[in-house]
Amino acid sequence: MAATDLERFSNAEPEPRSLSLGGHVGFDSLPDQLVSKSVTQGFSFNILCVGETGIGKSTLMNTLFNTTFETEEASHHEECVRLRPQTYDLQESNVQLKLTIVDAVGFGDQINKDESYRPIVDYIDAQFENYLQEELKIRRSLFDYHDTRIHVCLYFITPTGHSLKSLDLVTMKKLDSKVNIIPIIAKADTISKSELHKFKIKIMGELVSNGVQIYQFPTDDEAVAEINAVMNAHLPFAVVGSTEEVKVGNKLVRARQYPWGVVQVENENHCDFVKLREMLIRVNMEDLREQTHSRHYELYRRCKLEEMGFQDSDGDSQPFSLQETYEAKRKEFLSELQRKEEEMRQMFVNKVKETELELKEKERELHEKFEHLKRLHQEEKRKVEEKRRELEEETNAFNRRKAAVEALQSQALHATSQQPLKKDKDKKKS
Ligand code: GTP
Ligand code: MG
Repeated sequence: MAATDLERFSNAEPEPRSLSLGGHVGFDSLPDQLVSKSVTQGFSFNILCVGETGIGKSTLMNTLFNTTFETEEASHHEECVRLRPQTYDLQESNVQLKLTIVDAVGFGDQINKDESYRPIVDYIDAQFENYLQEELKIRRSLFDYHDTRIHVCLYFITPTGHSLKSLDLVTMKKLDSKVNIIPIIAKADTISKSELHKFKIKIMGELVSNGVQIYQFPTDDEAVAEINAVMNAHLPFAVVGSTEEVKVGNKLVRARQYPWGVVQVENENHCDFVKLREMLIRVNMEDLREQTHSRHYELYRRCKLEEMGFQDSDGDSQPFSLQETYEAKRKEFLSELQRKEEEMRQMFVNKVKETELELKEKERELHEKFEHLKRLHQEEKRKVEEKRRELEEETNAFNRRKAAVEALQSQALHATSQQPLKKDKDKKKS
């Protein structure tokens, strides 16, 4: 037998055989064990709310979970979109839910909306990255890890009755490969029934023609296939939110009261709130979590690992080896490092040469300047010397003239002092 046949033979899995049990063994309790473990562990669910300021995001969250999460209003003057996560521990019966609501604060408020989607995409990616880093750790603690990956994005559409804004289309297009998007028409009580019907059709048409993939309620599980298929046809849900209670008949119901009547939140003839709650919380919450992990996170993980140089083998070639990939990456990294080092060294040498030349040039300039100054100084010195000599000669001539004048003066003085004496002598003689 050829070596390859041998390998194939040893890799082939033996066909499993069906056997019947002689009595009760007990592994039929596995689903119960799973439920019990999940209940003890608790669940996490993370909702991202994207929609313009004041569209009714907080009110809808409060209405959905029948509580009051927060009352803080966002400002309309945010410089850019900011993601604000808030986590709450909720309990219903014996089930614990760690719910995180992430608000895209300031969405749609900027004059230039070109980059509005970016902080949202970055936030979603950052949560995937955190999870991937935890997975890649040698000592992983995924069991008690707080999974912050976004399971669903509720995209709030303004009830204009016209078409979707380009901001909505661009944002949903950027998000659709990263998160399960459920589009909803907010404040649906502000649009008439016939307009709403046309608006829904228009929105779905625009989403399809622009290739935006929204979340489809799964129809592969028989238990929910029918209801999910019906609900898929109702998208986008037109919802009304309110935590105010109004008396209708003899019952208190959550509603919005207007001078002309009452809009009941949980009345399916008034809006799709119940449909949304049913689909989001009661039927498909686990599928949303599942899809996040198996589709969106998987895509992120694959791209990230490929970027890092890891690759799966195609069936025929060698199986994927972490060691080999690591070695190849290490070699690639080292040669890149060497190249960079050589580049830096060359750059340094060039810089030193350049500086040396510059310094030499400066030295030559300085020397020239010095010589020039020296010449000037000698010239000045010579001139001063000449002047000094001239002055000396003048002083000598002056002194000579002065001495001659003094000699003449003393002669004259001598002559005048001799004359009266002679006169006296002459007088005596006479
Ligand atoms: P920010 O967090 O500040 O961006 O606002 P938000 O999107 O959370 O809106 P919020 O829930 O604070 O609601 C803003 C206003 O809209 C409030 O006055 C709500 O009462 C009102 N509102 C909320 N939901 C609805 C709705 O379904 N219909 C109508 N007509 N008004 C609504
Ligand atoms: Mg709010």
